[in-house]
Amino acid sequence: MNRFLRACRRETVDRPPVWVMRQAGRYLPEYRELRHRAGDFLTMCRTPSIAAEATLQPIRRFGLDAAIVFSDILTPLVPMGVELSFSPAPHIANPVRCAGDLDRLRPPAPWRGTEFLDEALALVSASLDDDTALLGFCGAPWTLASYLVEGTTSRSFTRVKSFALHEPEVFDRLVDTLADAMADYLRTQVEHGAQAVQIFDSWVGALAIEDARRWALRPARRLLAATAGLGVPRIYYAHGGAHLLHDLADLPCEVIGLDWRVDLGRAALALPGHALQGNLDPGALMGPDDEIRRRTLAMLAAAPRRGYIANLGHGITPEVPVHGMEAFVRTVQGYRYE
Ligand code: CP3
Repeated sequence: MNRFLRACRRETVDRPPVWVMRQAGRYLPEYRELRHRAGDFLTMCRTPSIAAEATLQPIRRFGLDAAIVFSDILTPLVPMGVELSFSPAPHIANPVRCAGDLDRLRPPAPWRGTEFLDEALALVSASLDDDTALLGFCGAPWTLASYLVEGTTSRSFTRVKSFALHEPEVFDRLVDTLADAMADYLRTQVEHGAQAVQIFDSWVGALAIEDARRWALRPARRLLAATAGLGVPRIYYAHGGAHLLHDLADLPCEVIGLDWRVDLGRAALALPGHALQGNLDPGALMGPDDEIRRRTLAMLAAAPRRGYIANLGHGITPEVPVHGMEAFVRTVQGYRYE
């Protein structure tokens, strides 16, 4: 079994496995070239050979321990009736603002309309060696709901919070619908070659603890309960989740992904039953290589020795120079547990 899957199961490894959220992306010249040829981002996602190529680009360049299939957390909303475009920020032309809008969402079961992702997974799976794990992913119910209600990326989340506060039962129904749909979607990904899955709760950090419990963690548990039987490790990524460590401790998943606002050593004490993933500030990759190496080694020293996956604390940004990514990855790859 490869390093990544062993670390998810908290088994011993020679060094931490490493991959990077949003590793296929605009900081890579070969990605920009592929994107230019494809025309637009959704076309890339919907063309299995192009999605597979984008998935493999960072693997070829850096020899990472995991490949994450190229898509977006919002693409599975399209077969549910959501009118989605990217420019490059996501835009939803028909946001969900009331019970009637929710009733118009069509959860496709069995999953239909994202067959391109299944094909991309199969293509990638066929060209990866056994040392590299293949990851599927989805958005967490709260994060998807925030896009569905706001219609785009939000700073203040006023619309979605207003919805949840004024119509709590309808909002519960929205996040439950999303949890059930994403459970089916992940099952399909595993059937087509995903060996582990990550659930991105990118906006859980916008919530007070009480609200996070009801609006984010409750439906995340529902999604995790429905995927427990898949037999693959599940990573719950809690961006901005430092205030939620206590609540994450009994979340029924194998790995918790954290950002840079958390000390990994303390997180390991708070989350004894989970493997951890993270958490270098992506902004650190804008610095000189020596400083990137120093910070990466400090992160590895703070992290638990078993059950740890090296990553950034959030997606790599388009401005990061390739040598910055290189300095990060090579430092982890050169590290050895005695
Ligand atoms: O990680 C990977 O390399 C796999 C591909 C992947 C993308 N998006 C491709 C993408 C993954 C795993 C995602 C997840 C995603 N998408 C998240 C969760 C991770 C996070 O950053 O918190 C979120 C919140 C989104 C929503 C989204 N998609 C936004 C806000 C944007 C625009 C801003 C941006 O980063 O460009 C996107 C577009 C997007 N998704 C791009 C890519 C490569 C850029 C498209 C382009 O080439 O123009």
